[in-house]
Amino acid sequence: MVVQKLATPIALFTALVRGYANPGSCSGACNVHDPSLVQRTSDSLYFRFSTGNEISYASASSIKGPWTTIGSMLPSGSSIDLAGNTDLWAPDAHIVDDLYYVYYSVSTFGSQSSAIGLATSATMESGSWTDHGSTGIASSSSKAYNAIDGNLIDVDGTYYMNFGSFWHDIYQAPMNSAATKVASSSYNIAYNATGSHSEEGSYMYKYGSYYYLFFSSGTCCGYDTSRPAAGEEYKIMVCRSTSPTGGFVDASGIACTSSGGTVVLRSHGTVYGPGGQGVFTDPSLGPVLYYHYVDTTVGYADSQKLFGWNQIDFSSGWPVV
Ligand SMILES: *[C@@H]1O[C@H](CO)[C@@H](O)[C@H](O)[C@H]1NC(C)=O
Repeated sequence: MVVQKLATPIALFTALVRGYANPGSCSGACNVHDPSLVQRTSDSLYFRFSTGNEISYASASSIKGPWTTIGSMLPSGSSIDLAGNTDLWAPDAHIVDDLYYVYYSVSTFGSQSSAIGLATSATMESGSWTDHGSTGIASSSSKAYNAIDGNLIDVDGTYYMNFGSFWHDIYQAPMNSAATKVASSSYNIAYNATGSHSEEGSYMYKYGSYYYLFFSSGTCCGYDTSRPAAGEEYKIMVCRSTSPTGGFVDASGIACTSSGGTVVLRSHGTVYGPGGQGVFTDPSLGPVLYYHYVDTTVGYADSQKLFGWNQIDFSSGWPVV
């Protein structure tokens, strides 16, 4: 107890003094949007999925690269019968029952006509993917949420899907035992009542006795044509709870269903608009926050976004990078 009480202010002080770490190195194919990482069990190769090109994917022997592009996960798009089914977004990669699962989103920008789909593969080799269509998590203008940006979490064998973008922000739905279809109705787990309710891209990660709900807040895209007011560009925020299904609060104790959220990473130096994040447990680096960002010395176009990552220090009970 005494050690914990001492450790908290020291960790916060260190974070204030050193600011945010610069992204770790990346070589090879490093242009990405909304990355998602998984490691192949047979050979420990890293696979990185991202928005664009019907879910572009690449592999590397380490998180630093060199990343080699493999191609499109679903070259002919998704069987989901919605506009946007040949422009798949926001992959979320996992291992479920010895298969590789990648959830993806079908939508069009700014529309609530959306669904979260699933593709699976036993090997992740090019051409090995089977599209299973919709998970049943879908939305239209009658819903409070937009059913994109899926993120699965396995809670001791029970699966939950976190999802949502704008409207009433982040929701969660219990999934069936195979994690293929939604099992029951969804509920809100994070909402920003201010501005344009711009929370999206959630990612839940368990560390110690807490479930950490990471999300991106702010304007994601189009920085080359119109940049938001300073501070309103993408940033990575977090809330935590001892339960995976609700009760998320920020570091000040504000409920994340009532506009709470603690910044983990925001624009700093030549790094602008970090977001689209996930957390990966690296065998040598431990928990790693990965994301995309703009390097202001390179360019602001969406196609120029880069893959970034940082080790996470959880010693204060809150993630620090
Ligand atoms: C909520 O929205 C406001 C206005 O856009 C923004 O400044 C703030 O960072 C957001 N907070 C969270 C927790 O998303």
